[in-house]
Amino acid sequence: MAEPGNDTVPAASGEPAYVEPIVKYYDGTWFDYRVVWMRGLGMHWGYWDDQTRTHAQSLTNMTRALAGRASMRPGMRVLDAGCGVGGPALWLAETYGVEVLGVTLSEAQLARARKYAARRKLEHLVRFEIADFTALPYDEGSFDVVWAQESVCHVPAAAKQLFLKEASRVLKPGGRMLMEDWFRIARPYTSDNETLMHEWLEGWAIDDLATTDEITGWSRDAGFTDVDLRNITPFAFRSIRRLHRLARWLGPGGLILKALHLRTDVEQANLRSAKLQWAAYQRNLWLIGLLAATKPS
Ligand SMILES: C[S@@+](CC[C@H](N)C(=O)[O-])C[C@H]1O[C@@H](n2cnc3c(N)ncnc32)[C@H](O)[C@@H]1O
Repeated sequence: MAEPGNDTVPAASGEPAYVEPIVKYYDGTWFDYRVVWMRGLGMHWGYWDDQTRTHAQSLTNMTRALAGRASMRPGMRVLDAGCGVGGPALWLAETYGVEVLGVTLSEAQLARARKYAARRKLEHLVRFEIADFTALPYDEGSFDVVWAQESVCHVPAAAKQLFLKEASRVLKPGGRMLMEDWFRIARPYTSDNETLMHEWLEGWAIDDLATTDEITGWSRDAGFTDVDLRNITPFAFRSIRRLHRLARWLGPGGLILKALHLRTDVEQANLRSAKLQWAAYQRNLWLIGLLAATKPS
């Protein structure tokens, strides 16, 4: 198992090296997310079951599927680690009456999340702050649930382990850690497949994915019990395919806009990665999983 190492060493600015690319990616791709993907505020894959009719429903369903792995009751405190623009946090507060504190690295996301909370009149239940989930400025035992939806994938292996330790620290005894994320199926792959993975993930500001064995092992190392990871990829298949089709369709237009300096390198890399994720999926290199674990009482 990887030990915390150089990838968590602060850059000259004093923050870990992964922070800047993540912020640049999200701030630079807001237009794409808003126009092409987000229906509602969720920035994640969709979950399709028999009742799902639309992409919008599938996005909410993914959050619902993760929430189903804990018993949330009014008054409980949830930390949303990597909250995006607040989609899951606002849905959890509206649906269960829980109090949610969402953290992100991006000031632009923070401003949007606060605006959406105000519009929905949920400021009494939901707050947003800037914080790195690998070094949380919150006391031990402050939360009933730590929630991480497609956020932990972004940080390097050592930082993923730091996140799990922080999650365990800030949870109350008996609290639940819930994660929806993408995982490698194995390590290492052939060099061709490693190159494909790297090119895909780099365009989305992701260092590397953990394998399912790594993430479950690190969760146990962080003190969690009842560690359980479910592969839900078949439920996300239509979502994965949708993104690929959109990317194929938008590809030529994107190149023209890029040549006219109307699209940035970050936006074009985002589009290219939307195609590469499909190639990696077809080679069976990654899966989407729901991870749940308990902090012992
Ligand atoms: C794909 S978005 C998911 C947002 C949200 N969970 C959702 O499902 O709509 C990933 C989020 O993780 C955040 N993130 C990534 N690394 C982080 C870190 N080390 N600390 C805090 N937030 C982080 C990003 O800023 C972004 O908001």
